[in-house]
Amino acid sequence: MENYLDFVITNDLKKDIQQYFYKYGKQDTFEHTLDVVNELYDIKKQWGHIEEGSELACFCHDLGRVVKNDEIIDFCIQNQIPVLEEEKMYPSILHQKISCFIAESVFHLKDANILDAIKYHSTSRKNPKMIDIEVFLSDKMSWKEAGYKELAQKVKEAMKVSKEYAMFYYLNELHKDRESLRLYHSDTKDAFEYFREKIDRTAMQ
Ligand SMILES: [Fe+2]
Ligand SMILES: [Fe+2]
Repeated sequence: MENYLDFVITNDLKKDIQQYFYKYGKQDTFEHTLDVVNELYDIKKQWGHIEEGSELACFCHDLGRVVKNDEIIDFCIQNQIPVLEEEKMYPSILHQKISCFIAESVFHLKDANILDAIKYHSTSRKNPKMIDIEVFLSDKMSWKEAGYKELAQKVKEAMKVSKEYAMFYYLNELHKDRESLRLYHSDTKDAFEYFREKIDRTAMQ
């Protein structure tokens, strides 16, 4: 396996992140990263502010994509990253935990809120923090691929109501499709149930 931890950082984190992706041939993931950061800036324009740390979390969210698909499980075992039974069915989902691990061990990030936002950017979780929500939504709204672009647009529409409503909208779409998904992660289900209840409560007030 390639040594994905063999990288020396400078004092220019954003440049380092680009260099890191380039070193492992992941220019496309770096381009996606910039798209995600731009979506975050749009959230800032729309709502007037974003959480401290959201930008850095967006920059780091997909660092784990450098690890090749057939090396994901081995990488996790080698680095004591916990792998759930359900995640073995769809190892690609582990890139969120690997991103968190690389952000911490290669890029020396220490802020627990930023690390968690990276770790749950793909599945979300029950009662996510606002930084989690901003990174999660920026990622989804950046999708340009056929079949996902429309969904990204709908999430943006939902965002006009609130960030929480946008979370509910997206998670509800996943929930409706759960039978056909390769993995409907237990954390995603928890997040869906959390927002369903939260949106219901708000509607009743
Ligand atoms: Fe991701
Ligand atoms: Fe992403």
